[in-house]
Amino acid sequence: MQSAKKTMQSVLATASRAYPSPPRALAEPPAGSDLKPVMGDAGMPFLGNTLEALADPLASAMKRFDRFGPVSWSGSLNMNIVTLVGPEAIEAAWMNRQKAFSSEDGWEPMIGPFFRRGIMLMDFDEHMHHRRILQQAFTRPRLNGYLDIMTPHIEKTLSNWEVGKGFPMYSRTKDLTLSLATEVFVGASLNEAQAHRLESAFEAAVRGGQALVRADVRDWTWARGLRGREYLQKYFRSEIAARRAGDGDDLFSVLCHSEDEDGNTFGDEDVVNHMIFVMMAAHDTSTIALSMLTYFLGRYPEWQERLRDESLALGKSTLDYDDLDSLPSLDLAFKETLRINAPVGMLFRKTIADTDILGHYVPKDTLVAIHPWASMLREEWWPNPTQWNPERFSAERREDKVHRFAWAPFGGGAHKCIGLYFGGMEVKSIMHQMLQRFEWSVPTDYRLDLTYGTGPTPADGLPIDFRQRRTAG
Ligand code: HEM
Repeated sequence: MQSAKKTMQSVLATASRAYPSPPRALAEPPAGSDLKPVMGDAGMPFLGNTLEALADPLASAMKRFDRFGPVSWSGSLNMNIVTLVGPEAIEAAWMNRQKAFSSEDGWEPMIGPFFRRGIMLMDFDEHMHHRRILQQAFTRPRLNGYLDIMTPHIEKTLSNWEVGKGFPMYSRTKDLTLSLATEVFVGASLNEAQAHRLESAFEAAVRGGQALVRADVRDWTWARGLRGREYLQKYFRSEIAARRAGDGDDLFSVLCHSEDEDGNTFGDEDVVNHMIFVMMAAHDTSTIALSMLTYFLGRYPEWQERLRDESLALGKSTLDYDDLDSLPSLDLAFKETLRINAPVGMLFRKTIADTDILGHYVPKDTLVAIHPWASMLREEWWPNPTQWNPERFSAERREDKVHRFAWAPFGGGAHKCIGLYFGGMEVKSIMHQMLQRFEWSVPTDYRLDLTYGTGPTPADGLPIDFRQRRTAG
């Protein structure tokens, strides 16, 4: 993987020497306005700067910020993408009052065929209408119910982990969060074969959205994704009547009964579409957050000890919802991990009207890439930004206070993550149990290898040295 990346980088270096790409304006601002143009470059013919952005989206966004500032544009596959880096720029898009930024049109080209009619692919009044109903599935009593389903499943899975040197932490976390999703979201009525079929279909749909070749050809990633989506739709449709008749605590049953304050509910197809989307939104994100938190705790044993002491001091092998605020160091470490390795690195919008961002003119129909990850790694807002140091969030330091969107791994504005408490609850309850059962370390010569899906993702299964914890006596 590392060598593939190096090859790509050297190809890019050669290509950019062959095609020097001088800065120019994206579009001239309307005559008489006091707006500035967005500056950027087209990159290579047709491909634009696509290869560079795919090989290392973080480095690419950082480079653009250094060259052009917080608002820049870049050529990509015959279109122009505006990149926003820095809390002021991302705030301007998330909090735009003019309603000029469509989430549906921004995300559709990336993941539309797999997640169409999910909440993130809706806009404005319709989005708000659906979000108010969906919100009812994420109230505190509901989260309590999900945690009750989760806890025994986590205990059982961790007790079966065959730990040792080179334990593939990312792969095992993925298995765990996927099987948890099947239990908590879909419900426990599935037998093992059904659960497996559902998990594979779901995994295929998620990967489909990340395929490079976007064609329904043979057994390729995109085609497998479409078949996965079809299977999920068929499954959820076939189960709706039974869930509506029952009173389960799983998310599927809850969505069948969700009702906002005005009595609005979801139709059958809404339930199907929201189920598929929410499962996707929860999966890679929690997996990346938990596995990377484990990695950093392996690299910084003093933090691992600190978190373990706190978990042991609680005196309970598993967490209840009310305990989530009683582990302050775990909270700091979780926040810092999301800053340095944001699971959703980049978000998309499309302008549906001429607008401006920080005084730069952005015409209608422009794809906009919002970059919270790069923003959280800029030294303009964060001292020593590449250093993993949870203490920066301590009450005395609160480095995130520099701007309300300086720390923004869950997004902001109308589409801000609806599952942020769910995600925190899942990661913390698993970590609380892990700290009591295991000790782990990262081999000193290990170099983290990342690939890019929804965000920076361990590419090699994340091998860590795990052992059962030696308890006194
Ligand atoms: C650490 C874990 C997570 C991170 C970092 C994360 C991050 C994000 C971000 C950045 C967005 C905004 C997308 C945009 O504006 O375009 C988002 C939206 C969303 N997330 Fe999460 N997420 C996490 C976990 C979860 C979980 C566990 C669930 C569900 C149980 C979830 C459900 C959603 C949904 C439904 C949306 C769309 C909300 C809307 O469009 O109104 N997320 N998430």
